[in-house]
Amino acid sequence: METPIEGIQWNSLGFSQTKTDFMVTSRFSTKIGRWEDLQVVQYGPVDVEPASAALNYGFSVFEGVKAFRSEDGSVQLFRPDMNAARFKQSAERMNMAAMDNELFIDAMCKVIAANSRFVPPCGEGALYLRPLLFASNCQLAAETEEFTFVVFASPTGNYFTSVDRGLRVLVTETYNRSAIDGVGFVKASGNYPATMLPKKLAIEKGFDDVLYTDSNESRFVEEASASNLFFVRDGKLYTPDTSRKTIHEGITRASLIYLARNELGMEVVDSEPLTVDMLKSAEEVFLSGTAIVIARVKSLTFENDADQEYKYPSYEVGKQLKEMLMDIQNGKRKAPSSWLIVDVPSLPVQDQ
Ligand code: COI
Repeated sequence: METPIEGIQWNSLGFSQTKTDFMVTSRFSTKIGRWEDLQVVQYGPVDVEPASAALNYGFSVFEGVKAFRSEDGSVQLFRPDMNAARFKQSAERMNMAAMDNELFIDAMCKVIAANSRFVPPCGEGALYLRPLLFASNCQLAAETEEFTFVVFASPTGNYFTSVDRGLRVLVTETYNRSAIDGVGFVKASGNYPATMLPKKLAIEKGFDDVLYTDSNESRFVEEASASNLFFVRDGKLYTPDTSRKTIHEGITRASLIYLARNELGMEVVDSEPLTVDMLKSAEEVFLSGTAIVIARVKSLTFENDADQEYKYPSYEVGKQLKEMLMDIQNGKRKAPSSWLIVDVPSLPVQDQ
């Protein structure tokens, strides 16, 4: 593996894109019925015609995967098998060509190996990989036939600039992000723009993010714009259940549930709907996701009770879980045996 490139301020990267050298691509046509061999090519524009199904109908799904540098300089991919499974699930739900786990993980390894000088030093962030799948066929009907797969990479730090001081979050009833048995649980690109206007309006009022409730009754909490929700109440850790297909099956979410149960010995409630009212008597609240890792929530304001700001001064469980998770990701703590942490081979990459 190449050592980190000089001249990047790793500590102040945030979540904006830093362009890297190479990307990985492949194509799939239903006529041929298989993915072409992966190509490692210079990072740059991809061909998309105005009539492509992705641009017209939003046939596009993506993932967020992270690679970390350990103290010895080696680079590890964090649980890419889970991203691969979710990518497949997203593709299938959107009637797009799926890809098997092996090819997906191979693509991740190739893009890292080609851009290894952009993997930040140990403990100073991650190389964020963005696998993207879209329908590239052109016809007026909303149909899919041809697909393009691209993986690009960017070194990243914190998603929220306000992560250290804690977030002020607005619980909305005006907007919904997903409906029962809809597509809210998959990483369809279209799920994200739906959260942008509510977030912009909330930011204008001094909040950092928006938390959504169920679209039927606004009685149950679901997730934030781009992250899962956790809270601590009476010593138990709670996160809303995902069975109604309204909430992303976060990989960080699954990892935190595991660590809280098995390392902290906590009771974790993760398979029932959780009411908005429970949040009002919570002791601690935090958000989780690949990009944000864990972000402490300092206060919640409920739209239907807007005169009161509910404050959460405690951040003990979230802090412990974040340290534990980051130590595993940085190779400082042994990962649970069921977790797939892939050592990225530093093979010379073809076609560079
Ligand atoms: C991630 O956490 O990786 C996501 O996909 C969310 C995205 C808005 C950055």
